Order: sequence, then structure tokens, then C-alpha cells
Amino acid sequence: MTVVKWAFQLMVAIGFGLVALSGWWALAWWRRRGPPRSPWFLRAAALAGIAAAVAVEAGWVVTEVGRQPWIVYGVMRTAEAVNPAPGLATGLALVAAVYAVLTVATVAVLRRMARHRDEPVAPQEGVPEPVDSGR
Ligand code: HEM
Repeated sequence: MTVVKWAFQLMVAIGFGLVALSGWWALAWWRRRGPPRSPWFLRAAALAGIAAAVAVEAGWVVTEVGRQPWIVYGVMRTAEAVNPAPGLATGLALVAAVYAVLTVATVAVLRRMARHRDEPVAPQEGVPEPVDSGR
């Protein structure tokens, strides 16, 4: 129960933190039509991405730990539902390898985008072409 309790409280705390951050942004936009100027907003926004991922994992812990020992409440226990199929470890290792490659690629792309942030990502995001109305 302790694990479920702390995972739930972490998830809800992060949820309210994210709502507060959105509120901060909305307030600044309402006042000045611009994002908050405080560097603390940018620090918090950078942290929000990681925090959201932590909240997802915490929510998963709430569900998975909270329903033990049942996989179907009152009908089937988790121990009875273990998959006996061979080769599961290989599949798990492959999925882990694919996600490791994707993680490295994502970090590389984000770092590259951060270094070249003044360049348009796609031509249509640069200066718009004049529209020929045909008249
Ligand atoms: C703000 C307040 C929040 C409340 C009151 C809340 C409430 C809950 C509850 C009650 C569950 C368990 C559902 C169940 O299996 O019975 C849950 C699961 C979950 N929550 Fe939250 N949550 C909040 C915020 C968040 C946030 C911010 C995230 C992610 C960014 C999140 C992600 C998840 C995930 C991934 C699960 C597991 C879902 C599943 O495995 O079926 N939650 N949440």
C-alpha cells in the first residue's frame, strides 16, 4: 500500500504542478500576449517534460502494484497468468534495444535542433511565398 500511496501522490502532485505551469503561461498571455518572462518559467517548462514522463510511470505503478495479487480481480491471480511461451526474453531484449536506439536518436535530434534553432525546420516555416491570386 505504501508504494501505491506514494506513487499516486507523486502522480497527482505532478498533475497539479503541470496545471499550475499552464496557468502561469495563460496568465502572462492574458496580461501581455506573451510568454512569462521569468527564467524560472523556462526552468519549470524544461522540467515539466521529464515530470510528465515520471507521472506516467507513477500512474502505471499505481495500477500495476495496486491490483496485486489479481490480474483479473477475484477471478485470476497474476501468478496464474504468467506466460510460459519460450523466447520472451529475446523479445524483451529486442524491444529494449529498439527503444535505446530511439532514445539516442531523439536526444541527438533535439540537440541539433537546439543548436540550429534560428534556421527554419521546413521551407514552409520560413518567409511565406507571395500568393498568386490569378487576377
Ligand atoms: C492530476 C491528478 C491526477 C489524478 C487524480 C489521477 C488519477 C489516477 C488514478 C485514480 C489512476 C488509477 C486508475 C486505475 O487503474 O484504477 C491513475 C492511473 C494513471 N495515471 Fe493518473 N492521475 C492524475 C494525474 C496524472 C498525470 C499528470 C499523468 C501523466 C502525465 C497520469 C498518468 C497516469 C497513468 C499512465 C496511469 C495508469 C493507467 C493504466 O495503467 O491504466 N496521471 N491516475
